[in-house]
Amino acid sequence: MKLEVITLFPEMVEQIVAWGVVGRAAKNGLLEFGTRNPRDYATDVHRSVDGRPYGGGPGMVMQPEPLAACIRDVRRTLPQAKVLYLSPQGRVLDQAYAAELAALPELVLLCGRYEGVDERLVTCEVDAEISIGDYVLSGGEPAAMVVVDALARLLDGALGHRESAQQDSFSDGLLDCPHFTRPEVWEEQAIPAVLKSGDHKAIAAWRRQQSLGRTAERRPELLEQLKLNRQDQRLLDDYLSQRGVDQND
Ligand code: ADE
Repeated sequence: MKLEVITLFPEMVEQIVAWGVVGRAAKNGLLEFGTRNPRDYATDVHRSVDGRPYGGGPGMVMQPEPLAACIRDVRRTLPQAKVLYLSPQGRVLDQAYAAELAALPELVLLCGRYEGVDERLVTCEVDAEISIGDYVLSGGEPAAMVVVDALARLLDGALGHRESAQQDSFSDGLLDCPHFTRPEVWEEQAIPAVLKSGDHKAIAAWRRQQSLGRTAERRPELLEQLKLNRQDQRLLDDYLSQRGVDQND
């Protein structure tokens, strides 16, 4: 996948390919990552990219001309790219949306600063707006980094076998199960015995049950969107009745 981020702070966003899984995907050529600075497309001596808002009010608004010139230049090298503008007004990122984006051959992420970008630029050059949640950041860059991380790890071959994305939270609409490593007993807390049983079927059932139970307790609205089969329903019922027993002890 070819991905370009348009930002006034390229050094900040480039950190996303300096480390970890995303860094490895970039090094291995699964992700061709670049940044572009709209300031390089400004035409005045001050290289300005922002202006005061028409109608008054606080802050500054990013001007359309340097952004349009920048996006049009990027489109020359990425002609198939969708251009997504990071903004709280966009469709909220979730695992399914990340998977949709990871399937695209090319993508451009546009980061706003200040109060945002001139709406005419959004109308003419942006395919969709994307949000990472219902809160306001001071710029699109941290959001772009979240989007890049969430989709890069889904690219074919980005994760090793042991890190498989199929086991992630949300990949099947459920939260992840708990994980444990050595030592077997830590501060008087032993790991669940089943994990040492060597019984792979029992371990898989326990993990599934934990995922179902945690989702029911913590994010019931996620569970409402799923149709559980009889086996899952039984696992969940057992989990909840066990918890009920524990809480009444
Ligand atoms: N820019 C500012 N806030 C944002 C958010 N919540 N998501 C995406 N981009 C943003």
